[in-house]
Amino acid sequence: MSTHPTDPHASAEVAARVERRWATLMVALVLVLVAMTVYTGLHWAMMPPSRVETIDPETLHVSGEFVETNLGSALEPDGSVTVRVLAQQYSFTPQCIVVPTDTPITFRATSADVVHGFLVTDTNLNSMVEPGYVSTFRTTFEKPGDHLMPCHEYCGTGHQGMWAHVKVVDRDTFTKMAALPENQSRRLSCVK
Ligand code: CUA
Repeated sequence: MSTHPTDPHASAEVAARVERRWATLMVALVLVLVAMTVYTGLHWAMMPPSRVETIDPETLHVSGEFVETNLGSALEPDGSVTVRVLAQQYSFTPQCIVVPTDTPITFRATSADVVHGFLVTDTNLNSMVEPGYVSTFRTTFEKPGDHLMPCHEYCGTGHQGMWAHVKVVDRDTFTKMAALPENQSRRLSCVK
């Protein structure tokens, strides 16, 4: 009769066994999550601002990499694309970012005022954009399509209205856009 459920000794033993099993499972789960965090951190260097690169937010508009004419997508000599984005209350420049498929893309973003968020829906692109720092992240888009890019760090009363678009076009379309005479002297974007 020792396994009868009303036997208090047997019930305590069952409870202890089940508790041990759950505790082991939870410890294992925590260890897996910690291992994932360490792996993604070291392997992809996905920690903003990992490559701490500073920039003066006061002079962004006047000189240097983030002047308005330099914002948008630039086709590099090696075939990769660099996208420069400026975040400020309450918009991103450019408002519509155009990038090609199957191409290494480097985003370089900074803020002119407060902390903003940079998130491209349906992708794992997610970063903070901080005044004084350049946030850099790399990705490759596999399929053409449109993605929303909402600011996801509360940045003031206009926060909920702050978002842009990312338009992914196939590589040929992008190369043709870049070759257009009017695009020789400026960066690409899908803002008309
Ligand atoms: Cu910018 Cu919220």
